[in-house]
Amino acid sequence: MIKVNSLSVRYDNFEALSILSLTIEDGKFHAIMGPNGGGKTTFIKALVGLLPYEGRIEIDGIDHKRYLKKNSIGYLAQRGSQFSQFPITVLEVVEMGRYRFKEPDHTRKNKAFEFLKVFEMENFASKNINELSGGQQQRVLMARALATESKILILDEPLTGMDPKAQSLFYDMIKRIKDDFKLTIIMSSHDVGFISEYADNIICINRELIPHDKSAKVLTCTEVSKLYGPKIGIVEHHHLHSEKDDV
Ligand SMILES: Nc1ncnc2c1ncn2[C@@H]1O[C@H](COP(=O)(O)OP(=O)(O)OP(=O)(O)O)[C@@H](O)[C@H]1O
Ligand SMILES: [Mg+2]
Repeated sequence: MIKVNSLSVRYDNFEALSILSLTIEDGKFHAIMGPNGGGKTTFIKALVGLLPYEGRIEIDGIDHKRYLKKNSIGYLAQRGSQFSQFPITVLEVVEMGRYRFKEPDHTRKNKAFEFLKVFEMENFASKNINELSGGQQQRVLMARALATESKILILDEPLTGMDPKAQSLFYDMIKRIKDDFKLTIIMSSHDVGFISEYADNIICINRELIPHDKSAKVLTCTEVSKLYGPKIGIVEHHHLHSEKDDV
């Protein structure tokens, strides 16, 4: 369980995020929603230990900084030009997730290959990462995050650049790996409709926590407009399911 209390994250004098109290339960899929600049990435970076903060974060009852000394958190950063022209193969990218285990080279490679299989990317193992499409790269990065064998997986807008079918497959995959690996998954997304269908819990952030009705599975229009502004509503759309090939 992750417990956040009196959290404040600043960039110089600008307080980008302030959270009084928040509990993130184990074994669930938590979605973080909120407008551009709302502080989602800021929160995620504080959680994975990349940004200093004031206040208290506890994981499994242990102070967050102490927790991170012994444990890792699987992390997929918000997409950027992460690889530029760096010559590295798909398998090597996933191997990076294994470095903390200090295992023999062949074990590391075999494990990395197994995690590529989870995302059906094993046939690309020896390709250069730059030769892959954006969506394929995201899958490889997911494999790397999972390869860390962390109990907590945090994904910052992993769906950017994925086509609807890939998004649908992605949600199915998230559900499967959450159950198979008993993970707590925290994921930011702008996709109000899709994500409320799949997430167990929604965390709304716009520089602070925006309360919403937890008993309703889907955000209401009022809640969405509180979060994104009055001119935004919800357009119902349904997910394509991967079992069907009617895309
Ligand atoms: N490195 C930085 N230095 C200074 N200010 C920053 C920095 N990174 C983010 N900010 C500011 O902090 C605020 C929150 O940014 P953040 O990236 O957390 O938003 P976000 O919710 O992830 O947005 P998006 O949906 O666009 O990814 C913004 O006002 C942003 O300008
Ligand atoms: Mg962001």
